[in-house]
Amino acid sequence: SQRHIFPTSDAAAQAVAAHIINTVKAKPDAVLGLATGATMEPVYAHLIAAYQRGDVRFSGVTTFNLDEYAGLSPSDPGSYRSTMDRLFFDHVDIDKNRTFLPEASLDASAAAGNDYEAMIVKAGGIDLQLLGIGRNGHIGFNEPGSAIDSRTRLVELHEETLAANAKFFDGGKVPGSAITMGIGTILSAREIVVLATGAAKADAVRDAHCGTFSEDCPASALQTHNRVLWFLDSAAADARF
Ligand code: F6R
Repeated sequence: SQRHIFPTSDAAAQAVAAHIINTVKAKPDAVLGLATGATMEPVYAHLIAAYQRGDVRFSGVTTFNLDEYAGLSPSDPGSYRSTMDRLFFDHVDIDKNRTFLPEASLDASAAAGNDYEAMIVKAGGIDLQLLGIGRNGHIGFNEPGSAIDSRTRLVELHEETLAANAKFFDGGKVPGSAITMGIGTILSAREIVVLATGAAKADAVRDAHCGTFSEDCPASALQTHNRVLWFLDSAAADARF
């Protein structure tokens, strides 16, 4: 893997945005795997700014988000569909019919995972998967204990993840389950771009680089992929590799 370390979180986010822009310029019909979370907000802001400057167009791309909360309607302001519309899709020339998130109504769960996998395959597979990392090393919503070959499925979220994400919900009530791409799904992407910023991520970033795959740190599975680019600020990189 390659590691790029920046003095500030915004510089790291800007570098990730620049990498995505280069990918889309080289392949206007690229398939992008997208992520939500606070870490990604400045990335989308930089992508929108680049679009407004005329530096990039998104009209040909297809996107698949990593995950979606279960049991929320897409129009719920807390859903990742609403979040992606608000933070990115509504502000660029992307064709919303080619922006996908797992279908996460509570009764659709089992088949929904297989459908999502099939849609990714039909689109030609993911060229670039954007990834954040949880404090406990989760990627997507693959919490510790997830199998390295897991695929898109319904999962229960850990207490720590619920607490970290409460800030995105009025009154703090986060859905307890989600549909997420599996670790195996993520590893099927041709390139993986991880952005981690802030001291709270330093331990998870370190564990992701230590030894071999351990179910205790889902991000450690990234060591088995041949093209992973880590973009870190100095605080997240601060735990000595
Ligand atoms: C979001 C996702 C999660 C986040 C992770 C970090 O789609 O899959 O794995 O990337 O929870 O979240 P933030 O950036 O809020 O610290």
